[in-house]
Amino acid sequence: MAILPIAKVGNPILRQIAKPVDPHVIGSRRFQEFLDDMFETMVHFEGIGLAAPQVACSEQVVVMECEGTDGIPRTVLINPKIIFYGPTQSTMWEGCLSIDNMRGKVVRPSMVRVQALDRNGATQDIEANGLYAVCIQHEMDHLIGKLFVDRMTDMSTLTQLKEFEAYWQEESATVI
Ligand code: NI
Repeated sequence: MAILPIAKVGNPILRQIAKPVDPHVIGSRRFQEFLDDMFETMVHFEGIGLAAPQVACSEQVVVMECEGTDGIPRTVLINPKIIFYGPTQSTMWEGCLSIDNMRGKVVRPSMVRVQALDRNGATQDIEANGLYAVCIQHEMDHLIGKLFVDRMTDMSTLTQLKEFEAYWQEESATVI
């Protein structure tokens, strides 16, 4: 296993459209090791989600995991598609491993249904709410070259981490 370097905002790979993964390669040792490396990298940098373009691989792969009551189960999404957005919106503070020390409020649908392949190449159909739904949308945005700052509708909430901790931590139930 290996900790991979994170592409930071300004790196053109973060603005590219990621290619679908050929399902035939999913079972390969190289690809399985890549998934393990993505999880290790995500945990090392204390993220709860990571998309392959963030580790300089422009392919449609996302990993996620977050312990806790409103947590996220260990998830691998390969070639994901959102097939349904719920009618209600939720606002959450978001951050990103590719944008150091920044937070901002983003409004997104609070429920999504997503279809994707799992790490065994099997089709999975996930209905996600709350943090899980927001994380899926944030990570899938990376696959189409979008960052959370592109989704912000009120740029006045863009906040450096130190100021976030000083002024905004209290009000935020959850941060991704
Ligand atoms: Ni991100």
